Amino acid sequence: MAFPQLPPPSSQTALAAAAASLLLYILFATIRRSQHSSLPLPPGPPRRFLVGNLGDVSADHPEEDYMRWGKEYDSDVIHVEVLGQHMIALNSVEAASELLDRRGSNYCDRPRFALFEVMGWGLTLTFLRWGRQFKLHRSLIQKTFTSSNVKVFRPIQLHEARKAVVDLLSHPDSWEEVTLLMTTSVIFRIAFGQEITDVSRKAIRTIHDVPWAASLKDIEAGTAPPSFMPVQKGVLEEIDAVLGVFGDATSASGPRLPTFEDRPALARLDRFLQEVHRSLPLNPLVIPHKSLRENEYHGMRIPAGSLVLANTKAMAADPRVYQDPDTFDPDRYVSAANGGRGEPYPNGNFGFGRRKCPGNFLAMATVYMFLATLLAVYEVEMVIGPDGNLIEPQPAVTIGLGGHPAPFQCQLKLRNPALAELLKEAA
Ligand code: HEM
Repeated sequence: MAFPQLPPPSSQTALAAAAASLLLYILFATIRRSQHSSLPLPPGPPRRFLVGNLGDVSADHPEEDYMRWGKEYDSDVIHVEVLGQHMIALNSVEAASELLDRRGSNYCDRPRFALFEVMGWGLTLTFLRWGRQFKLHRSLIQKTFTSSNVKVFRPIQLHEARKAVVDLLSHPDSWEEVTLLMTTSVIFRIAFGQEITDVSRKAIRTIHDVPWAASLKDIEAGTAPPSFMPVQKGVLEEIDAVLGVFGDATSASGPRLPTFEDRPALARLDRFLQEVHRSLPLNPLVIPHKSLRENEYHGMRIPAGSLVLANTKAMAADPRVYQDPDTFDPDRYVSAANGGRGEPYPNGNFGFGRRKCPGNFLAMATVYMFLATLLAVYEVEMVIGPDGNLIEPQPAVTIGLGGHPAPFQCQLKLRNPALAELLKEAA
């Protein structure tokens, strides 16, 4: 039996259908809004009819817009609305801890990340919506990576860190690739029991090429924080004292490679790492949380279904907490008992509440081991440019959900060849 043919939809029909859907969505959002309490929303830039703040928030550095509005409206909680979607930026540790940590059961959902779903990452914990599947997945990962459980991965981290620094002995200019491979190899060995070989290198490099390319734009935009090169000297002195870097290779106290047991004695290195985190958060707005129910905070209304963004860049630059926040100064964390200012380690680089990064202890331990080994063997120096002047590196991170350090030029100067020999034997 023949069915009557419907005429193919014209582009006008498709456009009209899209416009009708958008209007219905906005109508629905408006009706939902009228069912809320009468408390005011947090302050924010004025919204326009229907589109709200569409176009007001920059695509590359939204964290800076939220910081600016925080000052303009004298509030650590900022509200914007884009096409009916409420977004709440939290510019202080107090607000983020209160909402995302203490009231975490209401701020544990994630928005849908349609692009990542299309790419097949929908079932990754990071993008799972709140629910049974999330809880099961999260509890398995969290148990594996507690601060005490991650100690079982130390042999892997030690081996990968040493292997990476040995790689640098023969390829001192490939530090970007070497560090990328080291962090990936640690995860692959834990997750799949597989070491990254030369064969797999190219594929991994390709995966990371896109965000690295984007980072160049970031550097050009001049958003890089001040250099940490001069601070290196103090860190090297501490490493020398603990590991006897320039000692006689034949003596008992002679040079040796760092281990995890040295970490408490390398307090300056720890402060240095924390200051890198503070001055250059990899994910300035963390990953958006989504609220489940309407909530009240200091007399303001946080609507149900809001995207909540923890602005770690604003937290790290909070002048009430950090003196001269734009200065790279690891000594800011030295306790008052030891003659310092005792400023707190940055809070939030690994997120908050029930979505906080479960890999934080593992990540910090890997970075510690790599950096301690690197700085025992090498001094990181600036390169000389074509004009004969030293090129000051401009550290920056790529834009997007998973930030990477952007490439910069430096050279590695071998400190004690005897230690390099020890390293080759140990790797
Ligand atoms: C320096 C390295 C790392 C940084 C800065 C970092 C940072 C973050 C941040 C900011 C979040 C979002 C937290 C939130 O929404 O509140 C996150 C989530 C996550 N991270 Fe990391 N991370 C790092 C390394 C790792 C490692 C090594 C692993 C794996 C062992 C890992 C696994 C995860 C997972 C599974 C999530 C999603 C958690 C959830 O949605 O419940 N991360 N990370």
